[in-house]
Amino acid sequence: MAQKASTVVTSGAVAVAALLLLGGCHKAASAAADDSAFAEPPEFTAAQKTQILATFPAPYNTADLDAGEKQFNKCRSCHTITAGKMNMTGPHLYGVFGRHAATAEGYTYSDAMKAHNVVWDFDTLDIYLKSPQTVVEGTKMGFMGIQNDTDRHNLIAYLKAETTPGLADSTGANSAGSQ
Ligand code: HEC
Repeated sequence: MAQKASTVVTSGAVAVAALLLLGGCHKAASAAADDSAFAEPPEFTAAQKTQILATFPAPYNTADLDAGEKQFNKCRSCHTITAGKMNMTGPHLYGVFGRHAATAEGYTYSDAMKAHNVVWDFDTLDIYLKSPQTVVEGTKMGFMGIQNDTDRHNLIAYLKAETTPGLADSTGANSAGSQ
C-alpha cells in the first residue's frame, strides 16, 4: 500500500514538472509574470521611453511616463496591469487598449459598464477617466476621476506603455529578462 501511494505521488510530481516545462519553454518571461500578478511591470530606460512615446499620438507622445506611474497609484488598489491578468475589485487592465469595455475574462461587470459600447483606446479612456461616474452612469468603479488633463494624459500613456502585450519586448525591456 505504502509503496503504491508513493508511486502515485511521484508520478504526480513528474506530471507537474512536465507541465511547468511545457508552459515555460516558449515564453519564460511571461510565465514568470503569470506566477505573480503583482510582479512589477517592465522598467524602461530613457531611450526606450523615447522610442515608445514616439509611437503614440499627440498629446501622449510628449507624456511623462514616470509621472504617469505615480498617477497609477490612484488605481493600483483595485487594478492590476501585468500579464498575470488578475482581477481584483476592478478588472485587470493588461491589454486594455483595443479591448471592448466589460470584456475582461472572469470579471463580473455592472450593467452600466456592459452597456458602455466602446473599445478602450487613448480617446475613450481619456473621456472615461476624467469622470467615470458621469460617463458610465451607474458604474461600480468607485473613483472620482482625474480632472487635470496633464495628469490624466501621463497616466494613459503609462498604461499604454505597460499594458500593451509585446511593446516592452519590442524595445528589449522586460522585467523578467528577455528571452
Ligand atoms: C475603488 C476601486 C477602483 C479604483 C480606485 C479604480 N477603479 Fe477602475 N474599475 C473599478 C471597478 C469596480 C470597475 C468595473 C466597473 C463596472 O463594472 O461598472 C472598473 C473598471 C475600469 C475600467 C473598465 C475596464 C473594462 O474592462 O472595461 C477601466 C479602464 C478602469 N477601471 C481604469 C481605472 C484607472 C486607470 C484607475 C485609476 C485612475 C481606476 N480604474 C481606479 C474599480 C476601481
